[in-house]
Amino acid sequence: MGNRTISLTVNGKAVSAAVEDRTLLIHLLRDQMNLTGPHIGCDTSHCGACTVDLDGRSVKACTVFAVQADGGSVLTIEGMVAPDGTLHALQQAFREHHGLQCGFCTPGMITRAYRLLQENPDPTEEEVRMGISGNLCRCTGYQNIVKAILSAAQTLRTDVQLEAAE
Ligand code: FES
Ligand code: FES
Repeated sequence: MGNRTISLTVNGKAVSAAVEDRTLLIHLLRDQMNLTGPHIGCDTSHCGACTVDLDGRSVKACTVFAVQADGGSVLTIEGMVAPDGTLHALQQAFREHHGLQCGFCTPGMITRAYRLLQENPDPTEEEVRMGISGNLCRCTGYQNIVKAILSAAQTLRTDVQLEAAE
């Protein structure tokens, strides 16, 4: 049983949870909130499989204490799907461009790419590669991941232009 209660927003919903001081954010998400999209690959901040968005920054949830997210806002891969089930442009692009094989790295890769495109909506291939350099993939060779992110960036820019023209 946790020794303190924290309140935070997770995927747009206000939640509270009892945690211990030592509880890691990844364990809060996976074990207490049943959000098993973020994976645990290395547990030592190397692989990026646990990447989520916390208050507008990509973080490796295996190296953040749950109490550090108190009052904050977390986005996981589960929160990227629209309520009607429509995939986010990044999820769709990974699907179309075969940006995954086993899928283990994918939730972290996509949430990282989400933040990357928030910060830089029109990245070069080099900037995408640099942007995901903290996320390891053992299967794909990265080519299709990079293609997917560049394609999603294009889609998102077009959506913004269409919205502006309406
Ligand atoms: Fe967090 Fe690998 S599990 S970086
Ligand atoms: Fe298997 Fe990336 S798709 S680790």
